Amino acid sequence: MGSNTRIIFVALFMCLSAVVMAEDPYLFFEWNVTYGTIAPLGVPKQGILINGQFPGPKINCTSNNNIVINVFNHLDEPFLLTWAGIQQRKNSWQDGTPGTMCPILPGKNYTYRFQVKDQIGSYIYFPTTGLQRAAGGMGMLQVHSRDLIPVPFDNPADEYALLVGDWYNKGHKTLKSILDSGRSIGRPDGIQINGHSNKVGDIAAKPLFTMDAGKTYRYRVCNVGMRLSVNFRIQGHTMKLVEMEGSHTVQNVYDSLDLHVGQCMSVLVTADQAPKDYYFVVSSRFHKKVLSSVAIIRYTNSNGPASLEIPPPPPENSVGIAWSINQFRSFRWNLTASAARPNPQGSYHYGKINITRTIKIVNSRYFVDGKLRFGINGVSHVDKETPLKLAEYYGMADKVFTYDLVKDEPTNDNKVVLAPSVVNATFRNYVEIIFENHEKTIQTWHLDGYSFFAVAIEPGRWSPEKRKNYNLLDAVSRHTIQVYPNSWAAVMTTLDNAGMWNLRSDMRERAYLGQQFYFSVLSPALSLRDEYNIPPTQELCGIVNGLPKAPLYS
Ligand SMILES: *[C@@H]1O[C@H](CO)[C@@H](O)[C@H](O)[C@H]1NC(C)=O
Ligand SMILES: *[C@@H]1O[C@H](CO)[C@@H](O)[C@H](O)[C@H]1NC(C)=O
Ligand SMILES: *[C@@H]1O[C@H](CO)[C@@H](O)[C@H](O)[C@H]1NC(C)=O
Ligand SMILES: *[C@@H]1O[C@H](CO)[C@@H](O)[C@H](O)[C@H]1NC(C)=O
Ligand SMILES: *[C@@H]1O[C@H](CO)[C@@H](O)[C@H](O)[C@H]1NC(C)=O
Ligand SMILES: *[C@@H]1O[C@H](CO)[C@@H](O)[C@H](O)[C@H]1NC(C)=O
Repeated sequence: MGSNTRIIFVALFMCLSAVVMAEDPYLFFEWNVTYGTIAPLGVPKQGILINGQFPGPKINCTSNNNIVINVFNHLDEPFLLTWAGIQQRKNSWQDGTPGTMCPILPGKNYTYRFQVKDQIGSYIYFPTTGLQRAAGGMGMLQVHSRDLIPVPFDNPADEYALLVGDWYNKGHKTLKSILDSGRSIGRPDGIQINGHSNKVGDIAAKPLFTMDAGKTYRYRVCNVGMRLSVNFRIQGHTMKLVEMEGSHTVQNVYDSLDLHVGQCMSVLVTADQAPKDYYFVVSSRFHKKVLSSVAIIRYTNSNGPASLEIPPPPPENSVGIAWSINQFRSFRWNLTASAARPNPQGSYHYGKINITRTIKIVNSRYFVDGKLRFGINGVSHVDKETPLKLAEYYGMADKVFTYDLVKDEPTNDNKVVLAPSVVNATFRNYVEIIFENHEKTIQTWHLDGYSFFAVAIEPGRWSPEKRKNYNLLDAVSRHTIQVYPNSWAAVMTTLDNAGMWNLRSDMRERAYLGQQFYFSVLSPALSLRDEYNIPPTQELCGIVNGLPKAPLYS
């Protein structure tokens, strides 16, 4: 090799390695979304499968990986997936809610491209269109720490994903038509665990997972139901909580854990009991009729069936609520565990930041012309054909929605407005959101684009004096919070992720009938540092259909 050639070669090599080092790895997926018959409770119905599977494929990735998923919609109706809890920094374009994106039309495909930037933990994806979540289309997305970052527990022998929750035997189209006609979809029919349901003593039940005696396993458990909180527990075993929606927690040991709709937890379980089968039990909470299901966990050297005696559920009614609130208070963030954090500056001393805005949210149920609706502070959200984000990007917001119909303080009258609901937020404001539940049923709330510090849950009504009871030191940073009947919950976050972000009841009936809004967080500088431009591949629909994708940010 001549010296010139060598220089070119070395320069080329340096170029290449610079590119490789600057770019985080890419993971590519191709997903076919189809109908298929499934029968989680033994009753067949039309399910939504991804590559033939329910639950859908698990995405296994590492912090900062770039995820590229080409989704082909083979259904006869529009489809859209969201990645709940994945923060999509600067990128609400890929968030997959009807206010941010056009749905993928039947026969079409769309490629999601996003980065799991500075995140670790257990998350779910699911369809946001119609009531499709009642038919499946959901799965787990788990984000590992990068190799050099220590994880605050020994490597488990294996990891098991459990998607659990209530299930309706009616099809998603029937359920949607019930809601469209103004009625409630009523109570679910049972509980499913990874697409199955077994009763204690079913001899035909196959083991869901196996464990080698003496080893420790990580169970990632998410509640993907439509409305019911659940409690999960394992016969004869305790569970060590290690992670919750992206935060490493203080590692307390529990006999059973409450898990509300949309929430995820990781627990470590050690196979330290006699070698036989054990039941993993999931039962409903705060619901008139207790629904439950079990799955078998088998020791590899198992020499016997599971005992028919299952561990009892925690108490119900007011005693059960107090029990559950106490359990919530025991969840603490492990401040010394190293892990990727989306906003390290804002997170370590969140208790010392001055609150710039307090938004109090009260959930209500209404009847409008005899039809059931749900709302927030007197506004019941309706989706429009033009996604709100696109209308705003093209300067056509006023043709689609009015900002700030939802006020920071609810009014006391029982009036309700049906309209697209967008709250104008100031970039980087530190906000306190109070969820106050005056109803007799438990609620659960989720915020896209952010995690928040879940600083307090208490019975009764909130007032500013309650702030002295907040956990301002080690509250868990998460994305979904429950609010017990006649109680309130407080969360805090810095609105530093520019975009259009959905805040919703995670109960699908309520979200579908209007209990949600969007935070519009705009970068005042219109800077690419704060928000990406519209992706060249973004679908346009409604009044922006056919417009050029001119960059707004520079
Ligand atoms: C998706 O379906 C197409 C045919 O429609 C097939 O060629 C392709 O292999 C499928 N992809 C996966 C990942 O199943
Ligand atoms: C999941 O990802 C982690 C980290 O990248 C890796 O160690 C593990 O082997 C992967 N598991 C599977 C089942 O692919
Ligand atoms: C649809 O899939 C094709 C084939 O894989 C791909 O080239 C195209 O970019 C995809 N379209 C979108 C909008 O993602
Ligand atoms: C928190 O994380 C640290 C660092 O990994 C670990 O040593 C410690 O045991 C954890 N603390 C608790 C209480 O879980
Ligand atoms: C927070 O507010 C207090 C009282 O209004 C003020 O003294 C303090 O300087 C503020 N802190 C910051 C960091 O702005
Ligand atoms: C939204 O709030 C910002 C201040 O953060 C303000 O400059 C802007 O005018 C508001 N926009 C609307 C439409 O109210």
